[in-house]
Amino acid sequence: MTRDLLADVRLGVPTVWTPPSRDDAAPPAPSLALADVHAADARLRRFAPFLAGAFDGPWYDGPRGVEEGVIDSPLTPIPAMRDALGLPHDLWLKRDDALPVSGSIKARGGIYEVLALAERIALESGWAGGDPERGDHRDFAGSELRDLLSGYTVAVGSTGNLGLSIGVMARTLGFRAVIHMSADARAWKKDMLRGLGAEVVEYGGDYGLAVATGRAQAEKDPRTHFVDDETSRELFLGYAVAGLRLVDQLEAADLLPSAAHPLHVHLPCGVGGGPGGIVHGLHLALRERGLDTTHLHCWYAEPVQAPCMLLALATGRGDDVDVQEFGLDGATLADGLAVGRASRLAWSATKNRVAGAYTVRDADLMDLLRRLDATEGLRLEPSALAGVAGPTALHEAGIDVGDARSPRSRHLAWATGGSLVPAAEMETYLRG
Ligand SMILES: Cc1ncc(COP(=O)(O)O)c(C=O)c1O
Repeated sequence: MTRDLLADVRLGVPTVWTPPSRDDAAPPAPSLALADVHAADARLRRFAPFLAGAFDGPWYDGPRGVEEGVIDSPLTPIPAMRDALGLPHDLWLKRDDALPVSGSIKARGGIYEVLALAERIALESGWAGGDPERGDHRDFAGSELRDLLSGYTVAVGSTGNLGLSIGVMARTLGFRAVIHMSADARAWKKDMLRGLGAEVVEYGGDYGLAVATGRAQAEKDPRTHFVDDETSRELFLGYAVAGLRLVDQLEAADLLPSAAHPLHVHLPCGVGGGPGGIVHGLHLALRERGLDTTHLHCWYAEPVQAPCMLLALATGRGDDVDVQEFGLDGATLADGLAVGRASRLAWSATKNRVAGAYTVRDADLMDLLRRLDATEGLRLEPSALAGVAGPTALHEAGIDVGDARSPRSRHLAWATGGSLVPAAEMETYLRG
């Protein structure tokens, strides 16, 4: 089976991979425990008063009252899109396209890592932020801490959205920011970063080159912190917080996975940190509530030209396999997913828990982009549609995992970006 699947991958034909088995009971890596995810959530909430003042919303104000300054997004049904796609089951959208601050899933991990760094530097320099008598995280808006942080650099390699999240947050706190951008990154993302005073370094090659070069440069300077999309524990924990919080939203919407109503979560996947963190956090949070995670089915969604996580999983080789080995060039309109090699951290943390991975053609992403606009009035960037393609992909491949094609199942597509796309660029997507 794997041989046929890999032949399809080579040909750029949409394909679905499912694992021979899952091991939901396997304990998480000690450094990625539930307590670590809760600690990350608590840190983000400590920064909420600062964030609410540093940016003017729109802040999420949904079920269970996520407070102002907490970066989160609503969960909404998309029945008109479901009907247009002819699906027999519910279809929901997790609106990370509308996340405050940087309008994509990368706001979660990226902003978290920069905030964690800022807190660490401040505490090491004697800031008494933990002492309510003497200050709180609103102090980060003041000149004292900004001056301190301006002596440090935050660097990152990115296909665009991670760089945007890191650049916006780093500059807002006063850090110097150096963003190494791959060839796929959209011009408007680079322009926006330059407008914020970040330094943008452009590469002709792919994302892996941008990361490797940025990482090597940062190693030479002890006052430069490199946010490593392929290996960072902090990024991963920041994303995992989304899984933790999603459980509250699932409960409020009566979508918690059960034998009667299996839940399928479709996650656009680049290097894997964002979606992997969410898979990880969601599993831990459901288990914390005593719920059976075997009724949760998380899928990685990738472009046909850049299926790095599908290859990592299907070959069992993790980050030791590159899409180029399969004759693919990684070129896709889904710029956020244009990654040739998966994160070892994300692969190893989730390989025993995911339902599978599938690939989607660019033409289908663009068709879905237009249909979502026409049916629901929602405008996403191309990468963010990969998960919306999932239910149809599972139907067409005849997949029965978790009753995927049954009216009893529920499907949730993670909309990973879109609200910051300039209107003119969105018009070109919509016109085709
Ligand atoms: C819009 C969008 N969706 C999904 C992803 C995938 O996230 P990851 O690379 O962490 O897998 C990205 C990454 O940049 C993105 O920009």
